[in-house]
Amino acid sequence: MSIAARSLLTGLVFGVLLALLLQQLTPHIQVPVQISRGTPTSTTPLLDTDSMAQVLRNIARKVVRGAGGNGSNYKSTIAASSSILHSKPTPLTSSASSLIPSKFFSTTSPTMASSQLTKSVIEAIKERRTYYQLNKEAPISDSNIKELVEQAVLHVPSSFNSQSTRLVVLLNKDHEQFWDYVVDVLKPLTPEDKFDGTKQKINGFKAAYGTVLFYEAPEPVENLRKQFPLYAHHFGDWSEHTNAMHQYALWVALEAEGFGANLQHYNPIIDQKAAEHWSIPLEWKLRSQLVFGGRAGQPGEKQFQKTFGERLFVHGSKE
Ligand SMILES: Cc1cc2nc3c(=O)[nH]c(=O)nc-3n(C[C@H](O)[C@H](O)[C@H](O)COP(=O)(O)O)c2cc1C
Repeated sequence: MSIAARSLLTGLVFGVLLALLLQQLTPHIQVPVQISRGTPTSTTPLLDTDSMAQVLRNIARKVVRGAGGNGSNYKSTIAASSSILHSKPTPLTSSASSLIPSKFFSTTSPTMASSQLTKSVIEAIKERRTYYQLNKEAPISDSNIKELVEQAVLHVPSSFNSQSTRLVVLLNKDHEQFWDYVVDVLKPLTPEDKFDGTKQKINGFKAAYGTVLFYEAPEPVENLRKQFPLYAHHFGDWSEHTNAMHQYALWVALEAEGFGANLQHYNPIIDQKAAEHWSIPLEWKLRSQLVFGGRAGQPGEKQFQKTFGERLFVHGSKE
C-alpha cells in the first residue's frame, strides 16, 4: 500500500471514530415535563401535540396580526413556530411562558424572542371583548378545551396558594341544559310581560357552545383563616380575587383560541339546580358563568376613559 493510500485510510478510520464519539457525546434533545402542583412536584403529560400545535399556531397567528399582517418584524417567530409544528412530537415544558423556549428562535436573540411573546400576550388582552352573538362552531376540540381549562386551573395564582377556585365546564347538551334551567328558575321571578324578552336573552346564551362555571370552595379559605389569623379578614377578598383571575385568564385564553365569550351572573338563583344536576357540592359558591362559542357577530363599540393622569399613574420612569 502506498503512503498516500495508507494516510487516506488512516484519515477515514479516524473520521469514523470521531463521528461515533461525537454521537455518544451529543445530549438527547428531550426536556422532561414537570408541572409543580405545590408539594410534592409531580410529572404530568403535557398538552397533547394537537393542542400544543393549536396554541403555537395561535401565537403565530397573533404575531402576524400584531405586525399589521405583513409579519415583517416576526418572520423568525413564525418560522420557529411552524417548524415546531411540523417536527416530530417533542416534550416541552408546560408553563405558558415557555411555550416557545427562546432556544427555538435560532435567528433571534433571547431578548427579541421575549419581547415578541410579550407583544402577543398584549394582543390577546386587547382582543378579548364581550361577544353576545355566539353559535355552536368551536375552533378547537373538546379535549383541547379541557386541556386549556386545566392549564388555567394549574397556573392561575391564588392567595397563599390556597387553590380555592373550582371550575365546572359544560359543553354541548350540558351547556344547553344549564341555560334551560336558568329559564326555569327565572320564570317565577320575572313579570309575565317581560318573560318573553328574558327567555330570548337566555336562549342567546344557550345558542353558544359551552359555559364555564366559576366556584369558590369555602374550605381552603377557612383553613387559611385558621392558619393565619392575622390576615383572616382578608381571605374572603383574596378568594374573590383568585376567582376573578381564573375568569379573566380563561376569557382571554378562549378568545385567543378563536372563541367569542361573555360573562354572566345568574348566581345564586341557579346554584341549587346546577348542584343537583351535576353533583356539585352545595357549599361551593358560584361566582360567575363564562359563556363561549363561535363568533356570530361583532362586539359593541367600546369607550375608553383617559389613562395617564386619571386611571394610570407612573412615578420614577426614566423615559
Ligand atoms: C366583573 C365583571 C362582571 C361583569 N358582569 C357582566 C354581566 O353580568 N353580564 C354581562 O352581560 N356582562 C358582564 N360583564 C361584561 C362587561 O359589561 C364588559 O366587560 C365591559 O362592558 C367591557 O366590554 P368588553 O368586555 O367588550 O371589553 C362583566 C365584566 C366584568 C369584568
